[in-house]
Amino acid sequence: MTAQLQLQVKDLLQFIDNSPSPFHAVRSMEQRLMQFDFKLLDEKQKWKLNPAGRYYVVRDDSSIIFFVTGEKPLSETGYKILGAHTDSPGLKIKPNPVNSSNGLIRLGVEVYGGPILATFTDRDLSLAGRISYKTSAGEIASQLVSFDQSILRLPNLAIHMNRKVNEEGLKLDKQNELPLIISAAVEEQISSQFLYELLGNACGINAAQILSWELNVYDTQKGAFWGDEQQFYANSQLDNLASCHAGLQALLNETTLQSGNTLVCAFFDHEEIGSESTKGANGSLLPDILQRIALAMDVDTEGYQCALARSFMISADMAHAYQPNFPSAFEPEHKIMVNKGPVIKVNANHRYTSESISIARFIQWCELAEVPYQKYSHRTDIPCGSTIGPMTSAKLGIRTVDVGNPMWAMHSIRESAGVEDHGHMINALHCFFNAK
Ligand code: CO
Repeated sequence: MTAQLQLQVKDLLQFIDNSPSPFHAVRSMEQRLMQFDFKLLDEKQKWKLNPAGRYYVVRDDSSIIFFVTGEKPLSETGYKILGAHTDSPGLKIKPNPVNSSNGLIRLGVEVYGGPILATFTDRDLSLAGRISYKTSAGEIASQLVSFDQSILRLPNLAIHMNRKVNEEGLKLDKQNELPLIISAAVEEQISSQFLYELLGNACGINAAQILSWELNVYDTQKGAFWGDEQQFYANSQLDNLASCHAGLQALLNETTLQSGNTLVCAFFDHEEIGSESTKGANGSLLPDILQRIALAMDVDTEGYQCALARSFMISADMAHAYQPNFPSAFEPEHKIMVNKGPVIKVNANHRYTSESISIARFIQWCELAEVPYQKYSHRTDIPCGSTIGPMTSAKLGIRTVDVGNPMWAMHSIRESAGVEDHGHMINALHCFFNAK
């Protein structure tokens, strides 16, 4: 394995470690974009864009679209779009979360999307997200918050009280068995104020100013390489921050930035809960921004429609790698192997958007990049997952392919994947962005 491949994954692991919530992931990306002179655009203002300009838009702090305007006419080249998502399944803190009983303070949580709940037990957990508060001038302001150290835990029940755990699996009652221990209760404490004070101290504001929050639980364990040759890696949120990072790396490259094409990376929050929100992939964000790019480049309505018809989208989301301990879970002729290249996802019921032409084009970019590729089909007797691909392609009429890198343990709090695949995906996306 080359040092270059290792470095790319090292960068990915740092990116994830700095991104404990979708809000932080967007902020991490903004920091990278600013280093490459991307300018922030405000949706509330009118835009004037120049060819070969670098811009980005953030909607509600956790969805981001960054783009490069092409020097080639938009109506003749269309948009080259990469879509992915910034959120991951897990636990979110309730509005009135504090429960003080039996000498312990616990925080109540809701389940966000479809995490493997058992993996949240016995981990060094903490909190990250966004708070909104009233400033001393009476205005509403928001800020990101995260606790670096572990402050929460979901201790398992000892096997002595759960004798069948290895035969029947760890089942957790969502209402009663998920609250997270955060403190030993102190009698004079007003328990309902407990979290307000903790957040106020972390943000340097008065607890009484805090009005609301969106906080998710994250694992403080840093990303790591593993395997005898360190050919694998593990971290939280590989689904789907690994795809966001691959897109970022493929676009932030001098050759790509100067390709003359109109390139768009659209990374959405709320994929894990169906994408229906103001900033989700099934909302107005992507159509709004594509249209505004055209308007600000003086492309008329018909020119915009021509551009859409000439566009191509890659929907990148992680794929299920074969795990030999569980052979019956996989379709025998579609075993996806880690470190054997990006995966093209196919589903007859269109849970994935790929069709023969979009597949063929992705294969061509892989061949140009000298990157291996694999084709995935889910078992016929197990329901298939989906991605943002079907909804965005339906809304915009843009030809789309669903791809993603192989990974193990999707939706575990500690997922893993192959080092070589990350570099392969970056190279394939690089060819896509630079294609004529
Ligand atoms: Co995903």
